[in-house]
Amino acid sequence: MSKSPPLRLGVNIDHIATLRNARGGRHPDPLRAARTAIEAGADGITAHLREDRRHIRDADMERLKAEITKPLNFEMAATPEMIRIALGVRPHAVCLVPERREELTTEGGLDVIGLRDHLGPAIAKFSDAGIRTSLFIAPDPAQIDMAAKLKSPAIEIHTGAWCDALTDGDTAKASAEWKRIVAGAALARSAGIEVHAGHGLDYETAETIAALPQIVELNIGFFMIGEAVFVGLAETIRTMRAAMERGRAKVAAA
Ligand code: PXP
Repeated sequence: MSKSPPLRLGVNIDHIATLRNARGGRHPDPLRAARTAIEAGADGITAHLREDRRHIRDADMERLKAEITKPLNFEMAATPEMIRIALGVRPHAVCLVPERREELTTEGGLDVIGLRDHLGPAIAKFSDAGIRTSLFIAPDPAQIDMAAKLKSPAIEIHTGAWCDALTDGDTAKASAEWKRIVAGAALARSAGIEVHAGHGLDYETAETIAALPQIVELNIGFFMIGEAVFVGLAETIRTMRAAMERGRAKVAAA
């Protein structure tokens, strides 16, 4: 029986900041959430500095970078402003996402093909600064090929369409989306790209996707912050890790 490859859990703390901002004060503090998450077993912290600063703010990013003991994944749109800020913060990694002001969350993946002339130099700039780039994309073979051509060290597969189809009970769509994820993860890995996944994951879907050996990192936020309201953040993270480990054990058993 072969050993399972490690699978990291990145905890997205954006919605701790959403809650804090609802009252305009300092509580609950995203940095405290990050520390609690790390103590409970998170391998990294993800935070998205949006153009409209609706949740995470510039000062949060600086405090997180200065204070946390695990890697910071700075999620951002590849705008000149965000590139400048990220180069100043110097996180472990950046995850480049599409962003529209009116969206509720990151809807759909980045169009790496359409934006290649812009993304290529951004990836190179981050790489020169010692920051790893991940591109948040749908599991579309043409987009994955372009990510490889642009020498992106990592991609994050957008799992939102799969998770939404499961929630809606649309089994045909869920099965088609799952097949795209499986094939996309294999294609990216064979192109030498590190594969992450995220968006909309819960205990069940995290356990399922943990069984794909090419995936080495899951980034999860909204579901866990919601669960934390009922059982606490640390307990939620421990339960999530256990779900991921159950899924991962299936790789070794296969
Ligand atoms: N990964 C990326 C790139 C995202 O944009 C998001 C949402 O901010 C997540 C992961 C986490 O998604 P969720 O909050 O639905 O778990």
